[in-house]
Amino acid sequence: MKIIEDITEMHSLAMQLRHEGKTIGFVPTMGALHQGHLSLMQHAKKESDVVVASIFVNPTQFCPSEDYKEYPRDMEGDMEKAKGAGVDILFTPAVSAIYPEGYRTYVEVEGLSSVLCGKVRPGHFRGVSTIVLKLLNIVKPHKAFFGQKDYQQIVIIKRMARDLNLDVEIAVLPTVREEDGLAMSSRNQYLNKDERMSAAILYRSLQEARSLFEKGEMSTEKLKDAILSAFMGNSSAKLEYVAIVHPEISEEEKDVQKGTVIAIAARIGDTRLIDNIIL
Ligand code: PAJ
Repeated sequence: MKIIEDITEMHSLAMQLRHEGKTIGFVPTMGALHQGHLSLMQHAKKESDVVVASIFVNPTQFCPSEDYKEYPRDMEGDMEKAKGAGVDILFTPAVSAIYPEGYRTYVEVEGLSSVLCGKVRPGHFRGVSTIVLKLLNIVKPHKAFFGQKDYQQIVIIKRMARDLNLDVEIAVLPTVREEDGLAMSSRNQYLNKDERMSAAILYRSLQEARSLFEKGEMSTEKLKDAILSAFMGNSSAKLEYVAIVHPEISEEEKDVQKGTVIAIAARIGDTRLIDNIIL
């Protein structure tokens, strides 16, 4: 596995690979890799000649009060894991190279970036779309792979790709979970033992809503109530929002149907976790 820090070197190599007729699959990450990330890399390997993964903890997607400084970093461990997952090139640019002095340009996907998580994390999705566009421009992939776990992120990235005529296919892969259903996340490392047990409530509440839907319940309110009451029995998990929305997330659904998305965010102690299911 080749490790590249330099933007120009990454860009030139990508151009050369394209010139040779190789297909490039790309998996952007913020590191602290877990099986969720690795599944994207393994999948990219099956679908592309060359797999590029990036590790970049992107400062512009953290709000001032958030965990940019504390965000877990493990470059040594990540290198081993990425190599094992079949990554050919690991791109690890420096913050000062991505955002040099005087940096001014940001991408905002209007409307979509200020709802759900965007309401609680102002500026977050502006940072995400900006870094993803920059990375796509540097790595020049044919196909980029993202996880369903961050549902709003995918909707925003797909919309940006469409609106800005990006020449890249955006692929979405299922959420990888722990045995008790908790979606894998680099932030799960913040949880202590009790919090880790409580955290299973996120997926459990979504499953309860799904089972109501499968029994024929179509009312958004009833499904919301099922999630709220699941959280009521759990003293250390605080539901931040539950949204039952159209797959494009722009509108709340009056009645649920196949394809409707249920997205939730919750705080377990100081840790904010998200999850979602597609009915
Ligand atoms: P990060 O949280 O490191 O996630 C990188 C990719 O892995 C994202 O596409 C995310 O959806 C996916 N992922 C995370 N947990 C997953 C899980 N349990 N199952 C499946 N996929 C999972 O998302 C980001 O980084 C950043 O916002 C980024 C896109 C890299 C821009 O900075």
